[in-house]
Amino acid sequence: MSKASTNCLPDLSHYWVPFTANRQFKTMPRLFKAARGNYYTTMDDRQVLDGTAGLWCVPAGHGREEIASAVGKQLLTLDYAPAFQSSHPLAFEAASRVADYMPSGLDRIFFTNSGSESADTALKIALAYHRACGNPLRNKLIGRERGYHGVNFGGIAVGGIAGNRKAFGNALSGVDHIRHPLDIAKNAFTKGVPQDGGIALANEFEQRILTLHDPATIATLIVEPMQGSAGVIVPPAAYLKRLREICTKYGILLIFDEVITGFGRLGTKFGADYFDVIPDMLTCAKGLTNGVVPMGAVAVKREIYDAFMENTPTGAIELPHGYTYSAIPIACAAAIATLNIFQQEKLEDRAASLSPHLEAAVHHLKGLPMVKDIRNIGLVAGIEFEAITGKMGAFAFAVYLKCFELGLHVRYTGDIIAISPPLTIEKHEIDRIFNILSEAIRFVASQGVAGLDANNYLKNEQAWALHQQTTNA
Ligand SMILES: Cc1ncc(COP(=O)(O)O)c(C=O)c1O
Repeated sequence: MSKASTNCLPDLSHYWVPFTANRQFKTMPRLFKAARGNYYTTMDDRQVLDGTAGLWCVPAGHGREEIASAVGKQLLTLDYAPAFQSSHPLAFEAASRVADYMPSGLDRIFFTNSGSESADTALKIALAYHRACGNPLRNKLIGRERGYHGVNFGGIAVGGIAGNRKAFGNALSGVDHIRHPLDIAKNAFTKGVPQDGGIALANEFEQRILTLHDPATIATLIVEPMQGSAGVIVPPAAYLKRLREICTKYGILLIFDEVITGFGRLGTKFGADYFDVIPDMLTCAKGLTNGVVPMGAVAVKREIYDAFMENTPTGAIELPHGYTYSAIPIACAAAIATLNIFQQEKLEDRAASLSPHLEAAVHHLKGLPMVKDIRNIGLVAGIEFEAITGKMGAFAFAVYLKCFELGLHVRYTGDIIAISPPLTIEKHEIDRIFNILSEAIRFVASQGVAGLDANNYLKNEQAWALHQQTTNA
């Protein structure tokens, strides 16, 4: 490789890249240097279509001037105000705006800096709420298999992705999980929400807590309305409603983790709106600031907040919890600017109107080699591949690499490719996503075992640049 071309890359040795095979990545780094609209620019000036809205977090598209200027102005007005025992007006304005955007009744807002912190905050509020109400024995937490609630200890305890838990010991005790709702044998290639089995599946939750636990010991059940990180698992009809009924019956707080499903992803403001089920708490992050400044929030039913206010001694801190950067001014500015964009551009409606187009496009992939299931809801699609013994995820990873080479960013998780474009995506760009994906799947499958070898794909930006020079010559 020429000296000039290696100058493009920074020193890769110091940065420990999260959730990434570092040794492998550093042999073929994929670096973006700019982004605008629905596209990234790579180090060698290639345009890559963003099929994933970053990490599900850029619903309004990249490089939004409104957000950039709000954040810039705020930095020069009030860069920081202490978050404990004092605050600043924008924190209250942001909380009011978020409360207005939430499903009805969820109008008390606790700010965090991420989805992981939102999950742990919600779990802590659930535990502290039951104590404040005189029920300290309600201290068990229930999550769901294949659930993802971030990477902090509470989140991995209730989370159900084995790979994220195994390396870290026991996390928390007093945790149990319900079954996930994916049933490929029955529902493969269902378009949208599977219609059958929802109530029976939810009833298993009741059976489990009745037979294994005393329901009076359960503090909370936390679920994602649609499981995103574990590979786009769409719940069957009536399932979430039935979970709601069971929680209400036994005094268990229901938390919806809407870090992915929030902010228009399903074609409604939240999954709660899509499924017409109101939880007791709702966590969000990502799209809240269009991915620009880290920020998360837990929206809490007013009765829960009131219980803290009424049941703690006057002058006492009602919830001993918070972060140095809770409601940091630039995050509030970014959140308000993002909510303004949602209001003006009606991005949820846009997602809803594009959803049938995406559904038709993704289901065209049925019949391609290795494709075992296709799932979709709103502006989300998941394509699951046949498992290859001893090579879990290798096929999807190769498809991801091939897509990158062909100018498309997709997300792979296990044997699944997930698509979740910005809500600003155009129909012809949706077509492009699935045309490229189709080409990549065919290519990888046609290569046999060699197709699974990451070394056979774009080595790095420099290799691509050299390749372009050669092909243009
Ligand atoms: C449902 C859900 N909860 C929590 C998180 C964690 O969010 P963060 O990475 O901001 O901590 C994610 C991230 O993808 C998520 O999908």
